[in-house]
Amino acid sequence: MNETNQKSESLIAVTGASGHLGRLVIETLLGGNTPANKIVAVVRDPQKIADFAARGVQVRRADYTQPETLDAAFNGVERLLLVSSNEVGERVPQHKNVIEAARKSGVNFLAYTSILKADVSEMQLAADHRETEQVIRESGIPFAFLRNSWYFENYTDQLSSILQHGAVFGSAGDGQVSAASRADYAAAAAVVLASGNHENKIYELGGDAAFTLSELAAEISKQTGSEIVYRDLPVEEYAQALIGAGLPEPMARILADADLGLKRGDLLVNSGDLSRLAGHPTTTLAEAVAFGLKK
Ligand SMILES: NC(=O)c1ccc[n+]([C@@H]2O[C@H](COP(=O)([O-])OP(=O)(O)OC[C@H]3O[C@@H](n4cnc5c(N)ncnc54)[C@H](OP(=O)(O)O)[C@@H]3O)[C@@H](O)[C@H]2O)c1
Repeated sequence: MNETNQKSESLIAVTGASGHLGRLVIETLLGGNTPANKIVAVVRDPQKIADFAARGVQVRRADYTQPETLDAAFNGVERLLLVSSNEVGERVPQHKNVIEAARKSGVNFLAYTSILKADVSEMQLAADHRETEQVIRESGIPFAFLRNSWYFENYTDQLSSILQHGAVFGSAGDGQVSAASRADYAAAAAVVLASGNHENKIYELGGDAAFTLSELAAEISKQTGSEIVYRDLPVEEYAQALIGAGLPEPMARILADADLGLKRGDLLVNSGDLSRLAGHPTTTLAEAVAFGLKK
């Protein structure tokens, strides 16, 4: 029996199983060598993933804010993917609860979806991830840090608004971003969960070919025939534009600050880790835009 098959017989849990990334990780595991009954989908509301239960996945209810629910959910789990919480501002205490429950339950491998260059990134968003990584190290549980760059979907989910305004807005200047699709990151996470030799590894994950926001605008122009430009704004103006578009102010400020990080290179990587782990080239900008336009 090879290492991959051995790991596929371990009980593997994925948190955030109702979210975009968690769902894709479970789909990828199901499409590989992992039997459905060896997958534990951890979720706040089991109704949201009734489809996985119907396919034989073990669905267990837990909330990051309720430690006793996490203890029960991790019973017998050997390998765990902690998908970072989307409740920005609450993340560190929530993640601490998950890590402590994992330690108590005897989880022997914990993968965590962090952010690119979490140790040195100056983006405000990176602080929670840096602190979470530290808590994981201190827990003594063997870990893998999946340090993800941006999702393509951060842009392609905005295509209708971009087309309406004839512009991509940002504060990223000529900075390059190594974006990849959620499906690419999910493929890498599934490999790390279902195969061996990832203990105490740090993966810097991003798309194979970086691009600027001007290049993003040019690709959208090319595929739609509409003229789309990139409008670079001072960071305060960009934050106000995001607030005007309906984002809560704290999130708008964090996203505007992230563009300054993009400009500095905090979201740029050429490690090749993502395509190597996923086993295929990452989604290209042209493919991502085409896919986004079809949705
Ligand atoms: N790299 C990037 O570009 C990027 C972009 C956006 C986000 N992210 C980060 O990556 C993570 C995964 O991305 P995604 O697209 O899958 O996000 P998502 O679709 O928003 O999913 C987040 C998941 O976290 C779960 N969750 C939130 N609070 C919870 C709690 N208190 N207890 C248990 N579960 C909780 C949600 O459950 P419910 O369904 O019950 O709400 C959901 O399943 C995000 O949470 C965020 O930290 C990264």
